[in-house]
Amino acid sequence: MKKVITYGTYDLLHEGHVNLLRRAKELGDYLIVGVTNDSFDRERGKLNVRNNVLERVEAVKATGFVDEVIIEDYVGQKIDDILKYDVDIFAIGSDWEGKFDYLKEFCEVVYLPRTEGVSSTMLRAESEIMVRLGVVGCGRIAERFVAETSKVDAVRLTALYDTNREAAEHLATPNCRIAESFEELVEMVDAVYIATPHLMHYPQARYAIKQNRHVLCETPLVLSGNEAEELYRLAEEYGVVLLEANKTAYCPAFNHLITLIKSGLIGDVVGIDASESKLWGEENLKRELDPTMSGGSLYEMGSYPLLPIIRLMGTKYENINLYSRLNDDGVDVYTRGIIRFRSAVASFQLGLGVKTEGNLVISGTKGYAYVPSPWWKTDYFELRYEDQNLNKKYFYKWDEPGLRYELQEFVACIVNRRMSSARLRPQESIAMARIMQQFNDRENFFEL
Ligand code: CTP
Repeated sequence: MKKVITYGTYDLLHEGHVNLLRRAKELGDYLIVGVTNDSFDRERGKLNVRNNVLERVEAVKATGFVDEVIIEDYVGQKIDDILKYDVDIFAIGSDWEGKFDYLKEFCEVVYLPRTEGVSSTMLRAESEIMVRLGVVGCGRIAERFVAETSKVDAVRLTALYDTNREAAEHLATPNCRIAESFEELVEMVDAVYIATPHLMHYPQARYAIKQNRHVLCETPLVLSGNEAEELYRLAEEYGVVLLEANKTAYCPAFNHLITLIKSGLIGDVVGIDASESKLWGEENLKRELDPTMSGGSLYEMGSYPLLPIIRLMGTKYENINLYSRLNDDGVDVYTRGIIRFRSAVASFQLGLGVKTEGNLVISGTKGYAYVPSPWWKTDYFELRYEDQNLNKKYFYKWDEPGLRYELQEFVACIVNRRMSSARLRPQESIAMARIMQQFNDRENFFEL
């Protein structure tokens, strides 16, 4: 029996794919198709794939030419597969001419004619969905964000607004307008990215949602559980997407870590320790330490360590104790939180003007995960065991500044009419806001 193998993403399956699969099948008796998984695609820069891996696998199967579908998820897998499945022919479209000659050592390599005039990229561009995006609050984070908009298909930076017009002008791109007011900005766009100081998030998100605009709001979304709940309820009512822009939550490597742990690779999770700190000198941390702008280490950075804790242990904790060192303005320069769950405990440390090791350790009954600093920009982690021979290191690519992943997820939710993201569910975002509120109410709070 002659075995043929081919690979691809097969997004928005089109005639070109069908022709390719038919030709590949005609080369032998048994056709294996490797469909790239979502994280592998993202890792190799294919950020804009519309169909998820299950949809793509189903579409490939439905062509009727395929005997077996496998998932491609790492570089170098092709050689492994050819040997494992005892493949006779590797086939691929002629757009790859010459690129897979290195496989000739293992099997015959055939470049099949590509169908002219169609590609997934073209279909995505033609699908007419173009989200007009407005940015409010043109500070440091917005500057990085604006630079990332060019990395994501289906979104066009349309308008900017800042109370300081110069800040908005500084970020303007050729086809983007400067709005005279927040209301005008909302009027001009389909979706708003809110990057204003924390206390503006609630009124601005509420207003935009009520004008039927999708909202991507910087983290922390709000500092009160009730406000968070209200915003998600409103978003549902108005049929718009509301996402909290916690960059770690959408990062491929971080999500892979969560999936590995949820699949039991380190057993039951019993403890999590997560930390983050900045020691930039008070003059550089002016806004971050400003009491009138809800400064302080918990509000500023708390949603990062809370993310792995809540995603892995859930939102139903039994209690939280918070321990803070406050400065003369009453702003926390250091906060340590201890969260007790029914059968696990988590702790986090945050410092603005206090330094600590910024790593993430997740302890389980079979082993532990170690993510070195800066774990919130996850590009590397290890799973470690008592028997060190079982230890495994995982490496990924982190594309600075890493905001394209949240934007991509936001746009994918809008385009696919998916009202929330599994990467940071509304309930999880609400739970974080409740913790911020508990801090504000000084409940179970101890000053150091
Ligand atoms: N292919 C083809 N003819 C086309 C498009 C793709 O023969 N018009 C082949 C590719 O050469 C490859 C397979 O289909 O062997 C899967 O390709 P994939 O990258 O999934 O499809 P594209 O449409 O090229 O996707 P993109 O535009 O995202 O690169």
